[in-house]
Amino acid sequence: MDEATKRLYREYNDPSPRNKTLFLTLEDREKYKDFPTVDTLDGKPLPELLDRIYLGDCVEGMALLPSRTIDLIFADPPYNLGKDYGNNRMSLSEAEYREWTEEWISECVRILTENGSIYVCADWRYSCLIRSVLIGSGLIIKNRITWRREKGRGSDRNWKNNMEDIWFAVMSEDYKFNVDEVKVRKRVIAPYRENGIPKDWVETEEGERYRYTYPSNIWTDTVVPFWSMPENTPHPTQKPEMILERIIRASSDPGDIVLDPFMGSGTTAVVATKLGRHFIGFEINEEYLRLSMKRLDLIQRGLF
Ligand SMILES: C[S@@+](CC[C@H](N)C(=O)[O-])C[C@H]1O[C@@H](n2cnc3c(N)ncnc32)[C@H](O)[C@@H]1O
Repeated sequence: MDEATKRLYREYNDPSPRNKTLFLTLEDREKYKDFPTVDTLDGKPLPELLDRIYLGDCVEGMALLPSRTIDLIFADPPYNLGKDYGNNRMSLSEAEYREWTEEWISECVRILTENGSIYVCADWRYSCLIRSVLIGSGLIIKNRITWRREKGRGSDRNWKNNMEDIWFAVMSEDYKFNVDEVKVRKRVIAPYRENGIPKDWVETEEGERYRYTYPSNIWTDTVVPFWSMPENTPHPTQKPEMILERIIRASSDPGDIVLDPFMGSGTTAVVATKLGRHFIGFEINEEYLRLSMKRLDLIQRGLF
């Protein structure tokens, strides 16, 4: 087992009992090994392809899916910063990274429905490149969400990088956006009344005054998962479930299909399942696929 793989296994980490990270065990290695590979997608009808994560390259996988069938895509690609993902580590020139990004985004555009949406994560170095490729692929950019993720490495000679962008783009102006699903409960500071009646706010029996406001494009209320959180896994760049929950609630309906080309530890699959959506995912590292399968298995058994 190589070093990156060992970091995923409890046996090699021996965490303290208070550490809630969902490690793999050596038994899991045997238990979660029947994952489909991308070539098994070929020629199968869509309903048979749902709720699975396929081992292999996402461009090859998406190329085997029928056009105009996916309602929502969440993509958290490698940021081209040389991060070690076990069997893959990306360090391309800017031109090569652009070419690769164009390749997978053009497949996304082909498979999204006419009213579908795509969210693409990026850090500041390649955020402008992602925006440019999204526009060049014919998508309509609706917003750039900035996630203040808290965790970041400090520097003596630079500003600590504490943010990531999430680009929100759509196929047409006829896109879904369930704003009531993602409104934010806020305490009312200036409780304005009209004829003695609260205007757009509510008072509880305990005297708490609140209103539901429109969600903004700066997300400051969710941190990178860490060791004391049950959702945490040893995947090096896992996204918080709350980010996926917000996106899936806003941009899909129950029963819709959510696709993640870079599934990692399975966050998109986990949240889609919890919210009653179907998912399709791709992941090139089979150890990460095991982590996803373990997370999904625990949900199906009501343990997560
Ligand atoms: C930034 S991580 C995604 C993390 C994920 N959002 C989560 O919450 O765990 C990117 C993932 O893409 C995978 N990957 C890299 N190249 C890929 C490719 N061509 N096709 C499919 N997966 C790929 C890596 O192994 C890594 O797990």
